[in-house]
Amino acid sequence: KNHLKGKDFLQLSDYSTDDIHYLLDVAQELKAQQKQGKPHPYLSGKVLGMIFEKSSTRTRVSFEVGMLQLGGHAIFLSSKDIQLGRGESISDTAKVLSRYVDGIMIRTFSHDSVEELAEHASIPVINGLTDLQHPCQVLADLLTILEHKGKLVGLKMCYLGDGNNNMAHSLMEGAVKTGMNFSIASPEGYLPNGKVTGKAIEAGKLTGSTVEVTNNPQEAVKDADVIVTDVWTSMGQEEETEKRLKVFESYQVNEDLCKLAKNDFIFLHCLPAHRGEEVTADIIDGPHSVVFDEAENRLHAQKAILKLLLAK
Ligand code: CP
Ligand code: NVA
Repeated sequence: KNHLKGKDFLQLSDYSTDDIHYLLDVAQELKAQQKQGKPHPYLSGKVLGMIFEKSSTRTRVSFEVGMLQLGGHAIFLSSKDIQLGRGESISDTAKVLSRYVDGIMIRTFSHDSVEELAEHASIPVINGLTDLQHPCQVLADLLTILEHKGKLVGLKMCYLGDGNNNMAHSLMEGAVKTGMNFSIASPEGYLPNGKVTGKAIEAGKLTGSTVEVTNNPQEAVKDADVIVTDVWTSMGQEEETEKRLKVFESYQVNEDLCKLAKNDFIFLHCLPAHRGEEVTADIIDGPHSVVFDEAENRLHAQKAILKLLLAK
């Protein structure tokens, strides 16, 4: 029985280890079906509303294509064009959309707005990125690691750069839920959210995962199986760009730093990337990088989320 039907997908900490593996299994099945050209219209006649308050390439295209491949349809709703952008309340928007569509994906700034939308919607709400979390990306990342490493339990994942960021938080949650050890190196003032970290440490006790938070990139990357980074300036922080270039300088993922990782480490980045800033071109375009498999897996991972949450 599909116990995820009707649920929201707001952050990985709401999902059990089994739930995450269930999603990953379904993602692999759907990926195989799609590669074999087998139709899989599990959501025929279903419609996803997609609210975007920030830019997107991958999230928008992968959700839209995913709904089409599942036999449904997606509607792109830019917050600039819908009444939400002119001050209509989140709760009214949630109630109205719940009368038309079968699920809502939202990308916005405040995580609280997504929680509020989910509270007032009678249909599943999927977080397509907030300032705090990016769970769809991390489900795709877990799928990518599983494909390249054949397992998740016992691997060491290292994240370098801005710790107080959506990717850092969701990766931490995804790692501890699946038995990976997580290390993160960020400068003082840019450490991950304390609440998210505390909860992750607790979750790790159930799976045997550890969480290590440090300012020292060399220490964090030591013997890592998976190295991940993200932009130093996230959407909405553009005014701080210059300051951030200096603050994060010594956290760049480059050849020297990667020498400290395992020989067969893989490199992930959710993209978009800035070559020469958070990562050098020789790493992101080199043999250890799996960033385009990772980008592709957004499609397959999200189709699993859609299939299970919006199930008939
Ligand atoms: N990784 C990611 O979410 O990309 P987009 O901003 O292009 O959707
Ligand atoms: N941390 C980045 C991720 C983009 C997909 C941002 O929020 O802009």
